[in-house]
Amino acid sequence: MPPRELAVRPFRAADRDPVASLLSRLSGESLYQRFHSAGVRVDGAIVDLVTAGQTLIAELDGEVVGLASYNGARCELGIVVDDKCQRHGIGNALCRELLRGAECAGVSKVMATIMHSNHAMLRLLQSLEWPLLHVNRGPSLEVIIQLQSV
Ligand SMILES: CC(C)(COP(=O)(O)OP(=O)(O)OC[C@H]1O[C@@H](n2cnc3c(N)ncnc32)[C@H](O)[C@@H]1OP(=O)(O)O)[C@@H](O)C(=O)NCCC(=O)NCCS
Repeated sequence: MPPRELAVRPFRAADRDPVASLLSRLSGESLYQRFHSAGVRVDGAIVDLVTAGQTLIAELDGEVVGLASYNGARCELGIVVDDKCQRHGIGNALCRELLRGAECAGVSKVMATIMHSNHAMLRLLQSLEWPLLHVNRGPSLEVIIQLQSV
């Protein structure tokens, strides 16, 4: 099988339907880890939520298979990768490019709220080049990614 081509690029309005379709096919576990609830209804409001602020899209051979964004005063990070494409470096590529962009834009800290059970996201953040601070918030962990420090 030929290697598949990954592209990471900014979100555009035409991506709304492919993003909705990506969210619709997520497993309960991925929905839970992304939204801290498995009972998420995929509608326009949730597409608005996940694409608010600075948003990057990952496309594999033209199919939207992931997205990452940060938004709001706290620069809250959100990311999700299609279940069938996880563990192939897509989350890493999305996160790295998003955080490099944030750093270039002068952002000093990005926050990620992660369930304690989310080993994939914790591992991903630890594999990046930026120092992390962890703050316990009951069932979740707030991770502060310290940009502009390397
Ligand atoms: C977290 C998530 C985005 C990772 O995306 P991914 O494309 O699978 O990640 P990568 O393949 O780039 O892997 C990044 C690192 O995490 C590790 N990793 C990935 N999945 C893992 C798992 N299930 N368990 C343990 N480690 C895992 C990889 O081994 C890699 O570490 P390495 O570089 O040391 O080998 C993806 O699992 C996901 O969409 N989860 C549901 C949504 C979510 O949890 N979002 C985060 C909260 S907003």
